[in-house]
Amino acid sequence: MKIFAHRGLSGFYPENTMLAFKKCLDLDIYGIELDVQKSKDNHLVVIHDEKVDRTFNGSGYVKDMTLDELKSLNSSFKNYEENIDCKVPTLREVLLLFKPTNFIINIEIKNNKIKYKNIEEDVVNLVKELNMEKRVLISSFRMKTLKKLKKICPKIKRAYLLSEKFYKYRLKSLIFSRVTKNKSYSINPNYTIVDNKFIKKCHNRDMKVLCYRVNNIEDYKKLLKIKADGIFTDFPNIMSDDIFK
Ligand code: G3P
Repeated sequence: MKIFAHRGLSGFYPENTMLAFKKCLDLDIYGIELDVQKSKDNHLVVIHDEKVDRTFNGSGYVKDMTLDELKSLNSSFKNYEENIDCKVPTLREVLLLFKPTNFIINIEIKNNKIKYKNIEEDVVNLVKELNMEKRVLISSFRMKTLKKLKKICPKIKRAYLLSEKFYKYRLKSLIFSRVTKNKSYSINPNYTIVDNKFIKKCHNRDMKVLCYRVNNIEDYKKLLKIKADGIFTDFPNIMSDDIFK
């Protein structure tokens, strides 16, 4: 089972910060997951929400702040307010941290709410510049983004994110045919929609199933039993095959 640290070791440290990522370096896991948005001055920054309010001591949209303004913010996570490793990181900083390792980096392009101009191109160019094409998996909830990625750099692996709500109200056969046509490496669904049938459907189409956000041992065991390929978890130090030893 491939274990990804969801937003770094986010069960214990402020999510999507250098600290949360550095804390993963000693873990025997497959990779990490992070979220990318763009600053006002066009930098790729690692943060989950479109606004800084939940995770930092500021207020407003990421898209309306320059990188300097974003970097001036402190984490709002208790006891980590003064930690200089708990600022908003750039994508470059995180990729450079993992470049000398074997970790796979799942970059989620966060453009389902705000359409950042050329975010796909910018991410791909950076990955290429750092020579990390084989080390990343780029995911998105937007099929348009995945299509664009396929066009600009087909050799970088892509993953289609699938939320519970979207899956419930859309035509399932249409979802599968579009993802298959676009040749995604994987479907990354909310784990609650995954069962035996779902896994078989994906495997028959040569796609892996990487489930988010699995923080409960019982859910992890169930997914292991039905042969899911991987999980995203806030507790990658706990959710490992070691729990069965
Ligand atoms: O990439 C897996 C998971 O992070 C997707 O959901 O809401 O955390 O971006 P969300």
